[in-house]
Amino acid sequence: MIMSDLKNDLPKHLAIIMDGNGRWAENKGKNRVKGHAHGVRALQEVVEEAVQLKIEYLTLYAFSTENWNRPQEEIGVLMKLLVNTLRSEFEKLLENRIKLKVVGNMDQLPNFVQEELRYVVSQTQNNNEMTLTLALSYGGREELTNTLKKIAEKVKNNIISPEDIDESVINEHLYTRGLPEVDLLIRTSGEKRISNFMLWKIAYAELYFSEVLWPDFGKEDLHKALICYQKRERRFGKTSKQLIG
Ligand code: IPE
Ligand code: IPE
Ligand code: MG
Repeated sequence: MIMSDLKNDLPKHLAIIMDGNGRWAENKGKNRVKGHAHGVRALQEVVEEAVQLKIEYLTLYAFSTENWNRPQEEIGVLMKLLVNTLRSEFEKLLENRIKLKVVGNMDQLPNFVQEELRYVVSQTQNNNEMTLTLALSYGGREELTNTLKKIAEKVKNNIISPEDIDESVINEHLYTRGLPEVDLLIRTSGEKRISNFMLWKIAYAELYFSEVLWPDFGKEDLHKALICYQKRERRFGKTSKQLIG
């Protein structure tokens, strides 16, 4: 596959559920947290490749609302790893003109994580090559609940009337506002579920499941997913004939 072939018809918004870090480590007789550390390598490779391919929006599911139920020790390691990665990758974000965005319930994150995120988000806000969104302490249901609360508050204060609520109003109140709909959603590690990710924005996404565990996922695996995506016919409710016409 020649790079230039791959570059046509790419998803504008690619989202990835980075799964399988724990199993990767357990398979090697190591502690689960080693898997997370190796997951960072995969993340670097995928982000770099997405930049090369000029994918406009890349969203990565890094920590879910449900992940707060994991052992405290694992959560602690993940939070430290996140801050260390933000620091080590900071220069690369600037060099590649990547804008960092965060979606999720930020208040639940430890202060040192919130501070680091705020800093990197503000320092990269004017970058325009790619928007890299980290879904952190993120849950699709929590996002929709929060959205409903915000809209209800506006209705109560007569800022908007119930008749004005349409899809665009809902879109404007999501954590993921400003992001286009997801075109391609990849999940690694062989699990075939959504696990509460981006419920609203994946409504018409193409789904791709890879058997590869996230720490082993690389550029070639990403290419495979993209090639598969390019072969799909996205009909959005229409008939094939209508699309050709
Ligand atoms: C994904 O890997 C990373 C996070 C959820 C933070 P897991 O930690 O879920 O790995 P498995 O699924 O247990 O192998
Ligand atoms: C989903 O993976 C969350 C992230 C990848 C951050 P999980 O491993 O937490 O999901 P389940 O438990 O398999 O559904
Ligand atoms: Mg998992």
